[in-house]
Amino acid sequence: MRVSIGCDHIVTEVKNHLVKYLESKGHEVVDNGTFDKKRTHYPIYGKNTAEKVTNGEADLGVVICGTGVGISISANKVKGARAALVGDIETARYAKENLNANIIAMGGRIVGVGLIENIMDVFLETEYNKTPEKEEIIKKIDILGGNEEQSNNEHFFDEFIEKWDRGEYHD
Ligand code: RB5
Repeated sequence: MRVSIGCDHIVTEVKNHLVKYLESKGHEVVDNGTFDKKRTHYPIYGKNTAEKVTNGEADLGVVICGTGVGISISANKVKGARAALVGDIETARYAKENLNANIIAMGGRIVGVGLIENIMDVFLETEYNKTPEKEEIIKKIDILGGNEEQSNNEHFFDEFIEKWDRGEYHD
């Protein structure tokens, strides 16, 4: 499977571990960064990772930040993204089986690496159990959101990143 992955600077090691884990299982990984521990901001990686899924470059996505909250909310702002923030196997299964979640989000400071691997396995292995009722609900979710200026615009955060680099923002 082709898996798009992204994280913020708080959990780079966790993301790197997961990249190796996925590759060891034969998956093709699209790593959207971040690649070091230099302070950055999760909306960039939530957007980039989700867009690789919604534009078909990847089959599924995984986003990780400290809690998983900021990056999952960001990923969900991309039209067509259905990112599920989970910390257990059963919720991961539910998200894929019932809502055909196309992105899994986790808190790298909350969930241990072993459980992250297990959640990832379950998310990738579980099949969407398609029914007309579920399709209706998913259709209702998918018509929400989407922003013309943001969609597939790789420069959308340029001004934000420049300000970030000048030290205008802090955690
Ligand atoms: C750090 O920016 C931290 O706020 C982030 O990793 C995450 O926990 C937010 O949900």
